[in-house]
Amino acid sequence: MFPKALASLAALAALTLAACAPSKPTGVAAKMTKQSFGKTPAGEEVALYTLTNSKGITATITTYGGIVVSLQVPDQAGKLADVVLGFDTLDGYLKGHPYFGAIIGRYGNRIAKGRFTLDGVTHKLAQNNGENHLHGGLKGFDKVVWAAREASERSLELSYLSKDGEEGYPGNLSVTVTYTLTEDNELRIDYAATTDKPTVVNLTNHSYFNLAGQGEGDILRHQVTINAERFTPVDAGLIPTGELRSVDGTPFDFRVPRAIGQGIDAADEQIKLGKGYDHNFVLRWAAGTLRLAARVFEPGSGRIMEVLTTEPGLQFYTGNFLDGTITGKGGKVYHHRYGFCLETQHYPDSPNQPAFPSVVLRPGQRYQTTTVYKFSTSDRP
Ligand code: GLA
Repeated sequence: MFPKALASLAALAALTLAACAPSKPTGVAAKMTKQSFGKTPAGEEVALYTLTNSKGITATITTYGGIVVSLQVPDQAGKLADVVLGFDTLDGYLKGHPYFGAIIGRYGNRIAKGRFTLDGVTHKLAQNNGENHLHGGLKGFDKVVWAAREASERSLELSYLSKDGEEGYPGNLSVTVTYTLTEDNELRIDYAATTDKPTVVNLTNHSYFNLAGQGEGDILRHQVTINAERFTPVDAGLIPTGELRSVDGTPFDFRVPRAIGQGIDAADEQIKLGKGYDHNFVLRWAAGTLRLAARVFEPGSGRIMEVLTTEPGLQFYTGNFLDGTITGKGGKVYHHRYGFCLETQHYPDSPNQPAFPSVVLRPGQRYQTTTVYKFSTSDRP
Protein backbone atom coordinates (compact mmCIF):
# COMPACT_ATOMS: atom_id res chain seq x y z
CA MET A 1 0.00 0.00 0.00
CA PHE A 2 1.37 3.43 -0.93
CA PRO A 3 2.71 5.46 2.13
CA LYS A 4 1.05 8.60 0.62
CA ALA A 5 -2.22 6.65 0.34
CA LEU A 6 -2.00 5.47 3.97
CA ALA A 7 -1.36 9.05 5.14
CA SER A 8 -4.31 10.37 3.12
CA LEU A 9 -6.55 7.54 4.40
CA ALA A 10 -5.69 8.27 8.04
CA ALA A 11 -6.05 12.02 7.46
CA LEU A 12 -9.40 11.52 5.73
CA ALA A 13 -10.74 9.35 8.56
CA ALA A 14 -9.61 11.81 11.26
CA LEU A 15 -11.08 14.76 9.38
CA THR A 16 -14.36 13.01 8.84
CA LEU A 17 -14.70 12.42 12.57
CA ALA A 18 -13.36 15.76 13.89
CA ALA A 19 -14.46 18.70 11.85
CA CYS A 20 -17.87 17.90 10.36
CA ALA A 21 -20.54 19.87 12.16
CA PRO A 22 -23.98 18.67 11.13
CA SER A 23 -26.45 21.55 11.28
CA LYS A 24 -28.77 22.10 14.25
CA PRO A 25 -32.28 20.52 14.45
CA THR A 26 -35.12 22.96 13.69
CA GLY A 27 -37.54 21.03 15.83
CA VAL A 28 -39.70 20.51 12.74
CA ALA A 29 -40.25 16.84 11.83
CA ALA A 30 -39.12 15.52 8.47
CA LYS A 31 -41.78 15.94 5.79
CA MET A 32 -42.54 15.49 2.13
CA THR A 33 -44.83 17.70 0.07
CA LYS A 34 -46.05 17.32 -3.50
CA GLN A 35 -47.02 19.95 -6.07
CA SER A 36 -47.58 20.05 -9.79
CA PHE A 37 -44.56 20.93 -11.94
CA GLY A 38 -46.64 21.14 -15.12
CA LYS A 39 -47.18 18.84 -18.09
CA THR A 40 -44.99 17.43 -20.84
CA PRO A 41 -45.83 18.29 -24.48
CA ALA A 42 -47.45 14.81 -24.61
CA GLY A 43 -49.76 15.88 -21.75
CA GLU A 44 -48.17 13.75 -19.01
CA GLU A 45 -48.60 15.20 -15.52
CA VAL A 46 -45.26 16.02 -13.87
CA ALA A 47 -44.94 16.38 -10.10
CA LEU A 48 -42.40 18.13 -7.89
CA TYR A 49 -41.70 16.67 -4.45
CA THR A 50 -40.02 18.57 -1.63
CA LEU A 51 -38.24 16.54 1.06
CA THR A 52 -37.27 18.38 4.25
CA ASN A 53 -35.40 16.90 7.21
CA SER A 54 -35.56 18.16 10.78
CA LYS A 55 -32.35 20.14 10.20
CA GLY A 56 -34.07 22.25 7.53
CA ILE A 57 -32.20 20.70 4.63
CA THR A 58 -34.42 20.40 1.56
CA ALA A 59 -34.27 18.47 -1.69
CA THR A 60 -36.76 19.00 -4.49
CA ILE A 61 -37.14 16.18 -7.00
CA THR A 62 -39.33 15.98 -10.07
CA THR A 63 -40.87 12.92 -11.70
CA TYR A 64 -39.55 14.21 -15.05
CA GLY A 65 -36.24 12.39 -15.42
CA GLY A 66 -36.13 11.85 -11.65
CA ILE A 67 -34.26 15.17 -11.65
CA VAL A 68 -32.87 16.68 -8.43
CA VAL A 69 -34.09 20.22 -9.06
CA SER A 70 -32.65 21.84 -5.92
CA LEU A 71 -30.69 20.92 -2.80
CA GLN A 72 -30.49 23.47 -0.01
CA VAL A 73 -27.67 22.87 2.48
CA PRO A 74 -26.14 25.11 5.16
CA ASP A 75 -22.71 26.73 5.19
CA GLN A 76 -20.54 27.01 8.29
CA ALA A 77 -22.67 29.91 9.56
CA GLY A 78 -25.81 27.85 9.02
CA LYS A 79 -26.91 29.83 5.96
CA LEU A 80 -28.71 27.70 3.38
CA ALA A 81 -27.86 27.78 -0.32
CA ASP A 82 -28.92 25.69 -3.32
CA VAL A 83 -25.84 23.69 -4.35
CA VAL A 84 -27.09 22.08 -7.59
CA LEU A 85 -27.51 23.55 -11.07
CA GLY A 86 -30.93 23.44 -12.74
CA PHE A 87 -34.06 25.37 -13.66
CA ASP A 88 -36.98 26.94 -11.80
CA THR A 89 -39.56 25.48 -14.19
CA LEU A 90 -40.26 22.26 -16.10
CA ASP A 91 -39.99 24.29 -19.28
CA GLY A 92 -36.32 24.90 -18.64
CA TYR A 93 -35.73 21.13 -18.61
CA LEU A 94 -38.01 20.39 -21.57
CA LYS A 95 -36.02 22.78 -23.72
CA GLY A 96 -33.00 20.49 -23.41
CA HIS A 97 -30.05 20.59 -21.01
CA PRO A 98 -26.83 18.66 -20.31
CA TYR A 99 -28.47 16.16 -17.93
CA PHE A 100 -28.76 18.54 -14.92
CA GLY A 101 -29.62 16.42 -11.84
CA ALA A 102 -31.13 13.57 -13.85
CA ILE A 103 -31.29 9.82 -13.37
CA ILE A 104 -29.19 8.42 -16.21
CA GLY A 105 -29.93 5.10 -17.95
CA ARG A 106 -30.33 2.52 -19.20
CA TYR A 107 -26.51 2.82 -19.53
CA GLY A 108 -24.80 5.89 -17.96
CA ASN A 109 -21.72 7.22 -19.82
CA ARG A 110 -20.45 6.07 -23.23
CA ILE A 111 -20.65 2.87 -25.27
CA ALA A 112 -18.21 2.80 -28.17
CA LYS A 113 -19.67 3.11 -31.65
CA GLY A 114 -23.19 2.69 -30.24
CA ARG A 115 -23.11 -1.09 -30.14
CA PHE A 116 -22.29 -4.11 -28.03
CA THR A 117 -22.60 -7.89 -28.35
CA LEU A 118 -24.25 -9.97 -25.64
CA ASP A 119 -24.60 -13.76 -25.85
CA GLY A 120 -23.62 -13.55 -29.52
CA VAL A 121 -26.28 -10.97 -30.40
CA THR A 122 -25.14 -7.47 -31.46
CA HIS A 123 -27.31 -4.59 -30.22
CA LYS A 124 -27.27 -1.25 -32.03
CA LEU A 125 -27.84 1.94 -30.05
CA ALA A 126 -28.18 5.61 -30.95
CA GLN A 127 -24.85 7.27 -31.77
CA ASN A 128 -25.79 10.47 -29.98
CA ASN A 129 -22.28 11.58 -29.02
CA GLY A 130 -20.18 11.66 -32.18
CA GLU A 131 -19.80 8.03 -33.26
CA ASN A 132 -20.49 6.84 -29.72
CA HIS A 133 -23.57 6.31 -27.53
CA LEU A 134 -24.05 8.47 -24.43
CA HIS A 135 -26.30 8.33 -21.39
CA GLY A 136 -28.94 5.93 -22.67
CA GLY A 137 -29.50 7.48 -26.08
CA LEU A 138 -31.88 10.04 -27.58
CA LYS A 139 -34.64 9.53 -25.01
CA GLY A 140 -32.90 8.12 -21.96
CA PHE A 141 -34.25 7.81 -18.42
CA ASP A 142 -33.53 11.55 -17.99
CA LYS A 143 -36.37 12.42 -20.41
CA VAL A 144 -39.17 10.09 -19.26
CA VAL A 145 -41.82 10.66 -16.59
CA TRP A 146 -41.35 8.32 -13.60
CA ALA A 147 -44.16 6.97 -11.43
CA ALA A 148 -43.81 8.12 -7.82
CA ARG A 149 -44.69 6.67 -4.41
CA GLU A 150 -44.09 8.34 -1.03
CA ALA A 151 -42.42 5.36 0.68
CA SER A 152 -42.15 7.38 3.93
CA GLU A 153 -42.02 11.04 4.96
CA ARG A 154 -38.35 11.05 3.95
CA SER A 155 -38.21 8.52 1.06
CA LEU A 156 -39.51 9.08 -2.47
CA GLU A 157 -39.62 5.94 -4.61
CA LEU A 158 -39.60 6.48 -8.38
CA SER A 159 -40.26 3.66 -10.82
CA TYR A 160 -40.09 3.16 -14.58
CA LEU A 161 -40.52 0.24 -16.98
CA SER A 162 -38.07 0.46 -19.87
CA LYS A 163 -39.59 -1.74 -22.52
CA ASP A 164 -37.74 -4.41 -24.49
CA GLY A 165 -36.01 -2.67 -27.43
CA GLU A 166 -36.28 0.86 -26.00
CA GLU A 167 -33.32 2.84 -27.36
CA GLY A 168 -32.02 -0.48 -28.76
CA TYR A 169 -31.55 -2.22 -25.41
CA PRO A 170 -32.77 -5.82 -24.94
CA GLY A 171 -35.20 -6.81 -22.18
CA ASN A 172 -38.10 -5.29 -20.26
CA LEU A 173 -36.23 -3.56 -17.44
CA SER A 174 -38.20 -2.67 -14.32
CA VAL A 175 -36.36 0.09 -12.42
CA THR A 176 -36.88 1.75 -9.05
CA VAL A 177 -34.83 4.66 -7.76
CA THR A 178 -35.45 5.74 -4.17
CA TYR A 179 -34.33 9.15 -2.93
CA THR A 180 -34.04 9.46 0.86
CA LEU A 181 -33.13 12.63 2.75
CA THR A 182 -31.73 11.45 6.09
CA GLU A 183 -31.29 13.16 9.45
CA ASP A 184 -27.53 13.07 8.82
CA ASN A 185 -27.93 15.48 5.91
CA GLU A 186 -27.46 12.77 3.34
CA LEU A 187 -29.21 12.47 0.02
CA ARG A 188 -29.20 8.72 -0.36
CA ILE A 189 -30.04 7.13 -3.72
CA ASP A 190 -30.93 3.42 -3.92
CA TYR A 191 -31.12 1.99 -7.44
CA ALA A 192 -32.68 -1.41 -8.24
CA ALA A 193 -33.68 -3.21 -11.43
CA THR A 194 -34.77 -6.58 -12.78
CA THR A 195 -35.04 -7.83 -16.38
CA ASP A 196 -36.78 -10.56 -18.37
CA LYS A 197 -33.92 -10.90 -20.88
CA PRO A 198 -30.10 -10.60 -20.58
CA THR A 199 -29.24 -6.90 -20.82
CA VAL A 200 -26.77 -4.26 -19.61
CA VAL A 201 -27.47 -1.73 -16.84
CA ASN A 202 -25.45 1.19 -15.45
CA LEU A 203 -27.54 3.76 -13.57
CA THR A 204 -26.28 7.00 -12.07
CA ASN A 205 -27.30 10.53 -11.08
CA HIS A 206 -25.99 13.48 -13.05
CA SER A 207 -26.22 16.34 -10.55
CA TYR A 208 -23.93 19.33 -11.16
CA PHE A 209 -22.71 20.71 -7.83
CA ASN A 210 -21.36 24.07 -6.76
CA LEU A 211 -20.93 24.09 -2.98
CA ALA A 212 -20.64 27.88 -2.98
CA GLY A 213 -24.19 27.96 -4.37
CA GLN A 214 -25.54 27.39 -7.87
CA GLY A 215 -24.48 30.19 -10.23
CA GLU A 216 -21.95 31.50 -7.71
CA GLY A 217 -18.93 31.37 -10.00
CA ASP A 218 -16.77 28.48 -11.18
CA ILE A 219 -15.74 25.45 -9.13
CA LEU A 220 -11.95 25.77 -9.54
CA ARG A 221 -11.25 26.56 -5.84
CA HIS A 222 -13.18 23.53 -4.59
CA GLN A 223 -10.77 21.06 -3.02
CA VAL A 224 -11.33 17.46 -4.04
CA THR A 225 -10.15 14.15 -2.65
CA ILE A 226 -10.87 10.96 -4.60
CA ASN A 227 -10.21 7.51 -3.18
CA ALA A 228 -8.53 6.11 -6.26
CA GLU A 229 -5.03 4.94 -7.15
CA ARG A 230 -5.95 4.55 -10.81
CA PHE A 231 -8.16 5.97 -13.55
CA THR A 232 -9.17 4.79 -17.04
CA PRO A 233 -7.48 6.88 -19.73
CA VAL A 234 -9.55 7.63 -22.82
CA ASP A 235 -9.27 8.17 -26.56
CA ALA A 236 -10.44 11.28 -28.47
CA GLY A 237 -14.07 10.09 -28.17
CA LEU A 238 -13.71 9.71 -24.38
CA ILE A 239 -13.87 5.92 -24.72
CA PRO A 240 -11.53 4.10 -22.28
CA THR A 241 -8.49 2.54 -23.95
CA GLY A 242 -8.79 -0.42 -21.56
CA GLU A 243 -5.78 0.53 -19.44
CA LEU A 244 -6.06 1.13 -15.69
CA ARG A 245 -3.42 3.83 -15.21
CA SER A 246 -1.83 4.95 -11.93
CA VAL A 247 -2.67 8.49 -10.84
CA ASP A 248 0.82 8.86 -9.39
CA GLY A 249 2.54 12.01 -10.66
CA THR A 250 -0.43 13.00 -12.83
CA PRO A 251 -3.10 15.74 -12.59
CA PHE A 252 -5.46 12.86 -11.68
CA ASP A 253 -3.86 12.33 -8.28
CA PHE A 254 -6.56 13.38 -5.80
CA ARG A 255 -5.41 11.07 -3.01
CA VAL A 256 -4.91 14.16 -0.88
CA PRO A 257 -7.11 17.27 -1.13
CA ARG A 258 -6.34 19.21 -4.32
CA ALA A 259 -7.95 22.35 -5.79
CA ILE A 260 -9.75 21.49 -9.04
CA GLY A 261 -8.10 24.46 -10.74
CA GLN A 262 -4.58 23.25 -9.90
CA GLY A 263 -4.37 20.61 -12.64
CA ILE A 264 -7.39 21.28 -14.85
CA ASP A 265 -5.39 23.04 -17.57
CA ALA A 266 -2.22 20.97 -17.21
CA ALA A 267 -0.20 20.13 -20.33
CA ASP A 268 -1.34 16.55 -20.05
CA GLU A 269 -2.69 14.45 -22.94
CA GLN A 270 -5.63 13.12 -20.93
CA ILE A 271 -6.54 16.56 -19.62
CA LYS A 272 -6.53 17.85 -23.18
CA LEU A 273 -8.74 15.01 -24.41
CA GLY A 274 -11.21 15.68 -21.58
CA LYS A 275 -11.02 19.46 -22.01
CA GLY A 276 -10.35 19.29 -18.27
CA TYR A 277 -11.51 16.49 -16.00
CA ASP A 278 -13.99 14.11 -17.62
CA HIS A 279 -12.65 10.75 -16.56
CA ASN A 280 -13.58 7.59 -14.71
CA PHE A 281 -11.67 6.89 -11.49
CA VAL A 282 -11.13 3.28 -10.35
CA LEU A 283 -12.26 3.36 -6.73
CA ARG A 284 -10.30 1.70 -3.98
CA TRP A 285 -11.77 -1.27 -2.15
CA ALA A 286 -14.16 -3.84 -3.51
CA ALA A 287 -17.40 -2.66 -5.07
CA GLY A 288 -20.59 -3.80 -3.32
CA THR A 289 -19.84 -2.21 0.06
CA LEU A 290 -20.84 1.39 0.73
CA ARG A 291 -17.53 3.23 1.07
CA LEU A 292 -16.13 6.74 0.75
CA ALA A 293 -15.39 7.55 -2.89
CA ALA A 294 -14.75 11.28 -2.73
CA ARG A 295 -14.86 14.37 -0.56
CA VAL A 296 -15.19 17.97 -1.70
CA PHE A 297 -14.53 21.11 0.38
CA GLU A 298 -15.52 24.62 -0.67
CA PRO A 299 -13.26 27.07 1.19
CA GLY A 300 -15.53 30.15 1.07
CA SER A 301 -18.57 28.52 2.70
CA GLY A 302 -16.92 25.64 4.54
CA ARG A 303 -19.37 23.26 2.89
CA ILE A 304 -18.30 19.66 2.53
CA MET A 305 -19.82 16.99 0.35
CA GLU A 306 -18.81 13.36 0.77
CA VAL A 307 -19.78 10.78 -1.81
CA LEU A 308 -20.17 7.18 -0.70
CA THR A 309 -21.07 4.38 -3.09
CA THR A 310 -21.18 0.65 -3.73
CA GLU A 311 -20.17 1.28 -7.37
CA PRO A 312 -16.64 0.45 -8.65
CA GLY A 313 -16.11 3.72 -10.53
CA LEU A 314 -16.61 7.48 -10.37
CA GLN A 315 -16.83 9.88 -13.32
CA PHE A 316 -15.36 13.24 -12.33
CA TYR A 317 -16.62 15.83 -14.79
CA THR A 318 -15.84 19.53 -14.34
CA GLY A 319 -18.57 21.10 -16.50
CA ASN A 320 -16.22 21.57 -19.45
CA PHE A 321 -19.10 21.90 -21.93
CA LEU A 322 -20.90 24.64 -19.97
CA ASP A 323 -20.40 27.80 -22.00
CA GLY A 324 -22.69 30.58 -20.74
CA THR A 325 -25.53 29.72 -23.14
CA ILE A 326 -27.70 28.28 -20.35
CA THR A 327 -29.51 30.50 -17.83
CA GLY A 328 -30.58 28.55 -14.79
CA LYS A 329 -32.41 29.13 -11.52
CA GLY A 330 -32.89 32.72 -10.41
CA GLY A 331 -31.56 33.96 -13.75
CA LYS A 332 -28.03 32.70 -13.02
CA VAL A 333 -25.95 32.18 -16.18
CA TYR A 334 -23.95 28.93 -16.14
CA HIS A 335 -20.55 29.79 -17.56
CA HIS A 336 -17.62 27.43 -18.19
CA ARG A 337 -16.97 25.05 -15.28
CA TYR A 338 -19.74 26.47 -13.10
CA GLY A 339 -20.47 23.01 -11.77
CA PHE A 340 -18.87 19.60 -11.26
CA CYS A 341 -20.35 16.10 -11.35
CA LEU A 342 -19.35 13.02 -9.40
CA GLU A 343 -21.21 10.25 -11.22
CA THR A 344 -20.89 6.92 -9.43
CA GLN A 345 -20.91 4.14 -12.02
CA HIS A 346 -19.50 1.07 -13.63
CA TYR A 347 -16.75 2.05 -16.06
CA PRO A 348 -17.62 3.60 -19.45
CA ASP A 349 -17.98 1.18 -22.40
CA SER A 350 -17.97 -1.86 -20.07
CA PRO A 351 -20.24 -3.88 -22.44
CA ASN A 352 -17.30 -3.91 -24.87
CA GLN A 353 -14.50 -4.29 -22.29
CA PRO A 354 -14.44 -7.80 -20.74
CA ALA A 355 -11.64 -6.80 -18.32
CA PHE A 356 -13.92 -4.20 -16.68
CA PRO A 357 -16.43 -5.14 -13.92
CA SER A 358 -19.49 -6.62 -15.63
CA VAL A 359 -22.69 -4.65 -16.29
CA VAL A 360 -24.67 -7.62 -17.55
CA LEU A 361 -27.98 -8.31 -15.81
CA ARG A 362 -29.78 -11.61 -16.38
CA PRO A 363 -33.35 -12.77 -15.59
CA GLY A 364 -33.58 -13.81 -11.93
CA GLN A 365 -30.80 -11.42 -10.91
CA ARG A 366 -31.36 -8.09 -9.13
CA TYR A 367 -29.33 -4.98 -9.93
CA GLN A 368 -28.90 -3.12 -6.61
CA THR A 369 -26.61 -0.20 -5.92
CA THR A 370 -26.45 2.71 -3.46
CA THR A 371 -24.89 6.15 -3.52
CA VAL A 372 -24.95 8.77 -0.76
CA TYR A 373 -24.20 12.50 -1.06
CA LYS A 374 -23.52 13.58 2.52
CA PHE A 375 -23.31 17.25 3.52
CA SER A 376 -21.54 18.87 6.46
CA THR A 377 -19.33 21.87 7.15
CA SER A 378 -15.73 22.34 8.22
CA ASP A 379 -12.96 24.90 8.39
CA ARG A 380 -10.57 22.72 6.41
CA PRO A 381 -10.59 20.35 3.39
C1 GLA B 1 -20.91 13.19 -18.74
C2 GLA B 1 -19.87 13.04 -19.80
C3 GLA B 1 -19.43 14.38 -20.29
C4 GLA B 1 -20.61 15.16 -20.77
C5 GLA B 1 -21.63 15.24 -19.68
C6 GLA B 1 -22.91 15.86 -20.12
O1 GLA B 1 -20.42 13.71 -17.60
O2 GLA B 1 -18.77 12.31 -19.30
O3 GLA B 1 -18.53 14.21 -21.35
O4 GLA B 1 -21.14 14.56 -21.89
O5 GLA B 1 -21.96 13.96 -19.27
O6 GLA B 1 -22.77 16.96 -20.84
